[in-house]
Amino acid sequence: MTIRILSVASEAVPLIKTGGLADVVGALPAAVAPHGCAMSVMIPGYPAVMASLGKAKLLHRYDDLLGHAARLVRASASGLDLIVLDAPSLFAREGGPYGDPVGKDWGDNGLRFAAFARAAADLASGGVKGCTFDVVHAHDWQAAMTLAYLRYAPAKDHRAKSVMTIHNMAFQGHYGAELFPTLRLPQAAWSIHGVEYHGGVGFLKAGLEAADAITTVSPSYAAEIRQAEFGMGLEGLIVSRSERVSGIVNGIDPAIWSPEQDTALPAPYSAKTLKARAANKRALEARFGLEPGDGPIFIVISRLTWQKGMDVLEQQIDHLVGIGGRLALLGSGDAALEQGFLAAMARHPGRVGVTIGYDEGLSHLMQGGGDAILIPSRFEPCGLTQLYGLAYGCVPVVARTGGLADTVIDANVAALASGCATGFQFAPVSDAGLSHVISRAVQLYAQSSQWSKLQRNGMKADFSWSSSGKAYADLYAQLTKAAT
Ligand code: ADP
Ligand code: GLC
Repeated sequence: MTIRILSVASEAVPLIKTGGLADVVGALPAAVAPHGCAMSVMIPGYPAVMASLGKAKLLHRYDDLLGHAARLVRASASGLDLIVLDAPSLFAREGGPYGDPVGKDWGDNGLRFAAFARAAADLASGGVKGCTFDVVHAHDWQAAMTLAYLRYAPAKDHRAKSVMTIHNMAFQGHYGAELFPTLRLPQAAWSIHGVEYHGGVGFLKAGLEAADAITTVSPSYAAEIRQAEFGMGLEGLIVSRSERVSGIVNGIDPAIWSPEQDTALPAPYSAKTLKARAANKRALEARFGLEPGDGPIFIVISRLTWQKGMDVLEQQIDHLVGIGGRLALLGSGDAALEQGFLAAMARHPGRVGVTIGYDEGLSHLMQGGGDAILIPSRFEPCGLTQLYGLAYGCVPVVARTGGLADTVIDANVAALASGCATGFQFAPVSDAGLSHVISRAVQLYAQSSQWSKLQRNGMKADFSWSSSGKAYADLYAQLTKAAT
């Protein structure tokens, strides 16, 4: 029997993306399909999404969805069975999914994503004619209230089983108590085991309270969020529901991330033709204004934030350059960090290249031409750029945390001797920790046969969705079996 799943999220590749959440949501339907799962993806109707829909079927019309006119439409786009909430007064705005063109959060984000969740709960509880789902799978705080609506105010008696996935505990959707009346939930929902959180409304908290199963995107992060440092206030709730919590590591989509078929690369290559990477490295040097040279090029593709340890990296650039490395950095985020990296480029012309912005094509060239990718995150639920690095022979140099710890094998003495190393791990995320690991990487790079072994090991590893797709499908099957 096919299990029908509604996956609810604020982003999905290739329609709208600000980070790894979109990659995962876009890839999941194909990952679970071979295991008897038919997954539809529900996202908000941002301008970019509406523009790429083509022919869409009207599923439902709302005159008053938490005070707004809206429609639910269904279309297939880029291989996805999409259900879109077209609510122009909430989502047809210039800027990003969460904020205006200068990056300031929209003041009504609580209402926007509550309305989105209300509609998702209608779909998951049989309130929309022609749509039945066995499981509803909510991703992050933007979708989390779906599970609260399903629990406290389902449209009909049918209740899909529910999964709440945490992609990042740092973003919880915490609003003031004045939001509660506008949510149109019954008073019973205002409780410590409902949506109430520190006197206000907690979206992620409410989803975690209501979920039949809770997942996060790596086993290590699933363990870490039991502690205050990573749980960020929700560690007690995670511990209290721990029998429902598991970690399933993200995969990567080989149709998008494969060095042999990557059209963004001047010279596609495989593990057998690693030498061809040299042409990509030259192209990368040219794009970033780096002097051609023999030393390693470290790359960074990242949000420039505290989570990603970018302040620590900024402090280590002089060291990296001093021992013969070069740096190519692509990212955007905190203004002070952007300025700091641009200043480092000015200090080290030809050795440090910085592009502030978001550029998917350039990120592929960097993975295909760079020697090592630096990811000094303070916490990292899974991380995708180290997986792309592994697949592309761009050796990951990562902090030993979350999904980074689970996916990279450190080139320590034992791993080098047994020939299984794929990169470098370090801890803690400090000046000394990062400086030391950069030195280790530069030293090993000088031993070219050891380095190419690291590259080939990474490229051989399987980070496709096959096992994680099966793990999600098993979870859905277990939940629906328990229901019958
Ligand atoms: P997070 O979602 O926390 O930002 P991930 O490593 O899971 O981190 O995913 C980040 C995704 O966004 C990857 O696909 C990465 O390649 C991409 N990315 C991040 N910054 C940029 C950028 N400036 N330009 C292009 N792609 C980027
Ligand atoms: C979040 C996390 C990142 C993870 C991504 C996809 O953005 O910060 O570690 O890879 O979600 O699950």
